[in-house]
Amino acid sequence: MISLKSKREVEIMRESGKILASVLSELSRFVKPGLRTLDIDKKASELIREKGGEPAFKGYRGYPANVCISVNEEVVHGIPSSRKLKEGDIVSVDAGVKYQGYFTDAARTWPVGEVPAEIRKMIRVTRDSLYKAGLEKMRPGMRLGDISHAIQKFIEAEGYGVVRDFVGHGIGRAIHEEPQVPNFGKPGRGIPLEAGLVLAVEPMVTQGGFEVEILDDNWTVVTSDGKLASHHEDTIAITESGPEVLTYFEE
Ligand code: MF3
Ligand code: CO
Repeated sequence: MISLKSKREVEIMRESGKILASVLSELSRFVKPGLRTLDIDKKASELIREKGGEPAFKGYRGYPANVCISVNEEVVHGIPSSRKLKEGDIVSVDAGVKYQGYFTDAARTWPVGEVPAEIRKMIRVTRDSLYKAGLEKMRPGMRLGDISHAIQKFIEAEGYGVVRDFVGHGIGRAIHEEPQVPNFGKPGRGIPLEAGLVLAVEPMVTQGGFEVEILDDNWTVVTSDGKLASHHEDTIAITESGPEVLTYFEE
């Protein structure tokens, strides 16, 4: 069952999204070589609570931390640990906020210190696959497959891989709602998009093949070939007049 949100519900999710965006924006300035990923997790939890939200991932299906932190060949769902970030790494932080009963979900990938231009390009392509391709399909009259296809085409045109085994999702009173939102697919297929649909769209991009594996911790998703991966996620409301990125912030 797909739940459409009322204007009032979208208003609450807008507040939830603002909290999450400002947390990620502060974390983008906090991330430095030498920090342990656990330090980022702690900071994220403090910031989310300070701003009136709750970290949404903690305890979700037994997830042991506040946010997911994935480094280098880790794609998503990395568990914060005493691993230290070093110059040249790339790190993705994926966070969820619960606010007045509603969830928002967003992720960004950042370079740690100086990172080669080629790697920064993968991060940019991941973000732009949403902002310059997926987003324009997110309006009434289009279909779910139009979003998926636009994202896939944009990423593959730049020579990168698109992860198939994990997908985006509807979001609202639950963190994961229907429908699933793949980052690959055929245009003109899938459910019609309507005002009130709120989706977490989350392209996962690799420098090599798109195959992934789950580590023995049962969470961390890594590329099978060990090549780098990047992730970008926003919670986006479809309105009569087009998409509204509830978790957007300027970087
Ligand atoms: N953004 C992640 C996803 O949609 C959230 C995972 S929640 C976790 O898959 F608790 F499982 F980490
Ligand atoms: Co998500």
